[in-house]
Amino acid sequence: MKNFVIAIDGPAGSGKSTISRLVAKKLNFLYVDTGAMYRALTLKAMKKNIPFQNKEKLIDMAKNTEIELYDEDGKFKVIMDGEDVSEEIRKEEVSKNTSYIASILEIRKILWEMQRKFREKYNVVMEGRDIGSKVFPDAQIKIYLDASIEERVKRRYSQLKEMGIEESIEKIKKEMMERDQKDKNREIAPLIKGDDYYYIDTTNLTIDEVVETVISIYKNIKDRL
Ligand code: C5P
Repeated sequence: MKNFVIAIDGPAGSGKSTISRLVAKKLNFLYVDTGAMYRALTLKAMKKNIPFQNKEKLIDMAKNTEIELYDEDGKFKVIMDGEDVSEEIRKEEVSKNTSYIASILEIRKILWEMQRKFREKYNVVMEGRDIGSKVFPDAQIKIYLDASIEERVKRRYSQLKEMGIEESIEKIKKEMMERDQKDKNREIAPLIKGDDYYYIDTTNLTIDEVVETVISIYKNIKDRL
């Protein structure tokens, strides 16, 4: 039998990272943040001054990039070509530019392959935009996390502040809405909520409540398998 996958998709700030990590910890599953991979490649292109219009160069760059993800003392680490980029990839400049990288099919295919490898060895909780639709269409559980735009902006603001990054609420909101728009409407692997997803609106729920909801879905499904 294939290893277990809990796919968690949803827009920015819907609580994916927090919830996914806690669920993974409780179930002793591997946690994988796929957004970090798109961010890492975006950062590399920015550092190398590769124009985002130059698809060929970007694809070539992606083919020659090593990305390692792991949890270290409760911190999610992203190592790109041997360098720790965990914090740098969270900057708004990077967030804004991810849509270029995310819209290139050849690059997505490279990342899909890396993402699918995790399941060969581990049960995983994987979060992103296309985990249930493209990476693991056969995931045993697919969750779509959502929240109101106001709540999502508030969360992102606090998250950035905690990392020592100061951004205005207005700027975060504008960029988040633009990013949602692009993620939901792009041609390749858009963020969609299929009929086989459990939909959870986290706006008025505590973190514990959301985690418990996911765990109870897991227990239910597990008993039926
Ligand atoms: O999840 P996070 O906000 O870090 O993702 C950054 C960006 O990476 C998203 O806005 C999206 O454009 C892209 N992404 C994607 N597919 C994924 C994960 C992230 O296209 N599975």
